[in-house]
Amino acid sequence: MIPVQRGEEHLKVLLRRSAIERRVRDIARQISRDYRGERIHLIGVLKGACIFLSDLVRHIAGDVSLDFMAVSSYGKGKETSGQVRLQKDLDSSIEGRHVILVEDILDTGLTLSYLRRILLQRRPATFKIAALLDKPSRRLKKDIHADYLGFKIPNEFVVGYGLDYAERFRNLKDVCILSLPPE
Ligand code: IMP
Ligand code: MG
Repeated sequence: MIPVQRGEEHLKVLLRRSAIERRVRDIARQISRDYRGERIHLIGVLKGACIFLSDLVRHIAGDVSLDFMAVSSYGKGKETSGQVRLQKDLDSSIEGRHVILVEDILDTGLTLSYLRRILLQRRPATFKIAALLDKPSRRLKKDIHADYLGFKIPNEFVVGYGLDYAERFRNLKDVCILSLPPE
């Protein structure tokens, strides 16, 4: 990795847009096969998952509806505060529905454990998780995994394709490692 100079942010491509596009298509194909003949209810976790979700949904064949939730845990920095708060709840009931929760990244697992717990209480017919990225080395909650996963990545802070640092970089087409100058 190129050394970071003081006073500069540095971005290094980790996953190219073409690789992401291929993988997202594969996941959509797999979902289409797994749910053939069923209605799928995709729930996106705002805001990070919005790009992944919008690409994914257009490659899923069949009957799909969408809803969104918003949570906060990270605040403005790179480290989780460890506390997950629900900022926006779903618009409609998920009882009896085939739910796939769509998230940008599985890191410590705190966010998805929290969301899984509150969503399972609402008795969906089935419940699965789709995540674009997974940083397995960071996991604090051992019992959570993505049923559909894009890529396992090393323990680096990444931005782009929906992922942010202090609300920036969500619009990058590639997933990039962000290095910040030392404080
Ligand atoms: P967890 O609760 O620690 O699993 O963190 C999940 C959330 O933290 C994700 O939905 C992201 O919003 C954020 N997050 C974790 N790692 C990164 C990263 O490398 N870049 C940007 N956001 C991240
Ligand atoms: Mg997120």
